[in-house]
Amino acid sequence: MLIERLGSVVETLHLHSFALSVYQRVGALNIRSYLRNRGFREAPDGLAIPPAWMLMAVAGSAEAGAFLDGGRKAAQSIRDILRRNGSQMEDLGAILDFGCGCGRVLRFWKELRRTEIHGADYNARLAQWCRNNIPFVRVGSNELMPPVAYPDAMFGLIYALSVFTHLPEHVQMAWMSEFRRILPSGGLLLLSLHGAHYLPRLHEAERRRFLDGQAVTRHSRSAGMNLCCAFHPEDWVRKKLAMDFEVVDFVPEGALGNPRQDLWLFRRKPGVLPRTYLPLH
Ligand SMILES: C[S@@+](CC[C@H](N)C(=O)[O-])C[C@H]1O[C@@H](n2cnc3c(N)ncnc32)[C@H](O)[C@@H]1O
Repeated sequence: MLIERLGSVVETLHLHSFALSVYQRVGALNIRSYLRNRGFREAPDGLAIPPAWMLMAVAGSAEAGAFLDGGRKAAQSIRDILRRNGSQMEDLGAILDFGCGCGRVLRFWKELRRTEIHGADYNARLAQWCRNNIPFVRVGSNELMPPVAYPDAMFGLIYALSVFTHLPEHVQMAWMSEFRRILPSGGLLLLSLHGAHYLPRLHEAERRRFLDGQAVTRHSRSAGMNLCCAFHPEDWVRKKLAMDFEVVDFVPEGALGNPRQDLWLFRRKPGVLPRTYLPLH
């Protein structure tokens, strides 16, 4: 409750970016994480470990071990849900990690030889870190709202882990429409969302809204930052968020590496493609 109030004060004063940056940097000074991270000067995959404030920004902990372990589990859960539904990473042509952060999951696709691996993030510094440190991916940065510069129907799979969990409803809907554009008919979309597990954390009015089948967003003015939190009732996802998609699979609390979030796999329905094409920056 105190954190909530602080969050509201910070938003009212338009200090959310600053407050978040202080939070990440102070969290990065955690002595226990520092001592543990000494064992991770080089990760087992031979790639660099992002600075501690970036680990805080994407995983809420400055510990390199937890970052790597969470990314490995998340990558495995993507492979698993695809395989269970008759698909595999190797056959998807091009994939997009939307809201890729500092490459927690991207770094696990090194061995995919036939697949083009792309990432995009709203935070230009995280995207830049990926460009500098993960040689087998192509990463761009985008605005909070669509569009992105990719051509129509470019990707066989788009996944966004712990991203829609930080976006207000109208921003989520706008991205669903953009994903529809950059996926072909039959293209796959994988999202991790805050589902019923989070119900006890909601305030009375939020809980009523959630149980009534409506999306709930906290701190909308901090959209795209971790202070903003969105919650997703199953009914709302099926009827509203996914209206241009077929629900292929739904695993409550199944997003391994993004604990307790629901994992949703959608397939894009056929339909007319809106055309939008702007350069990435
Ligand atoms: C909690 S982090 C998760 C990062 C990564 N998906 C992972 O699982 O490690 C949320 C990420 O979403 C990014 N993000 C938020 N809004 C976005 C938007 N509109 N477009 C692209 N990225 C966004 C943030 O910058 C941040 O890197």
